[in-house]
Amino acid sequence: MLVKTAEFVCSNTQVDKLPDPNLPEYAFIGRSNVGKSSLINALTNRKGLAKTSQKPGKTQLINHFIINDTWYLVDLPGYGYAQTSKKNRAEWGKFIRRYLTDRENLQCIFVLVDSRLEPQKIDLEFCCWLGEHGLPFMLVFTKADKQSGVKSDQNVAKFKRALLNWFEEVPARIITSSETRLGVEEILVKIDEINERFEKPSASDYI
Ligand code: GTP
Ligand code: MG
Repeated sequence: MLVKTAEFVCSNTQVDKLPDPNLPEYAFIGRSNVGKSSLINALTNRKGLAKTSQKPGKTQLINHFIINDTWYLVDLPGYGYAQTSKKNRAEWGKFIRRYLTDRENLQCIFVLVDSRLEPQKIDLEFCCWLGEHGLPFMLVFTKADKQSGVKSDQNVAKFKRALLNWFEEVPARIITSSETRLGVEEILVKIDEINERFEKPSASDYI
C-alpha cells in the first residue's frame, strides 16, 4: 500500500470523545519504549508524525492519525512503565482496556514485542487478555536491526511456544525494524487486506 497522506487527527483521554467509528482502525500497543511511535513513523514514512523518545512513557494519550483519508492508525501509551504511579497505571489499564473492548471499528491490534528479549510475562499476559476478550491481534517484533536474524527468529519461536500454552493457534507474527524498514510493507499489506473486507458490504446487508 502506498501511504499518500498521513495526518494527525486528535489525542484523547476519553473513549467517548474519539472520532466517529466510520473507518477501519488499527491500534499499536506494547510495552513502553518497544518502538510503537517509531514504527508508526516508518509505516507512514513521516519522521515526526508520532512523537518518539529514548525515555519510556512518551505517549500518554490515544492518538488518532488518518491515513489516505480511509483508515485510522492509533498510537497508544505503552504498558509496564515503571516510573508512573500505581494509580496512573490502574487508570491506564481501565482507559485502554475500555478503548480496546468498546471500539467497534477496531479491526486489528498490533501487539509490539521487543525481538531482543525472551518472552516477557507482561506481553504474554496482555496477549491472553486480548484472547479472552476475543479481540483480533497480530504480533509485531521490533528492533530486529539490533541483532542477528537468527536471534530474532529464536525469540519469535519462543514467544510462539509460550503462547501455545494458552492458545490453540497463534496469530500472525511479523519481524520489523523501523531503522531498516524490515516488515513495514508486510504490515501495510495486512492492513490493506482487512480494509478491503471492511469496505465491501457483507452478503447479509442485501437480505
Ligand atoms: P512510549 O511512547 O514511551 O511507550 O514508547 P514507544 O513504544 O512509542 O517507543 P519509541 O518509538 O518512542 O522508541 C523508543 C526508542 O527506541 C527510541 O529511542 C527509538 O529511536 C528506538 N527504536 C524504536 N524502534 C527502533 C528500531 O526498529 N530500531 C532501533 N535501532 N531503534 C528503535
Ligand atoms: Mg510512543
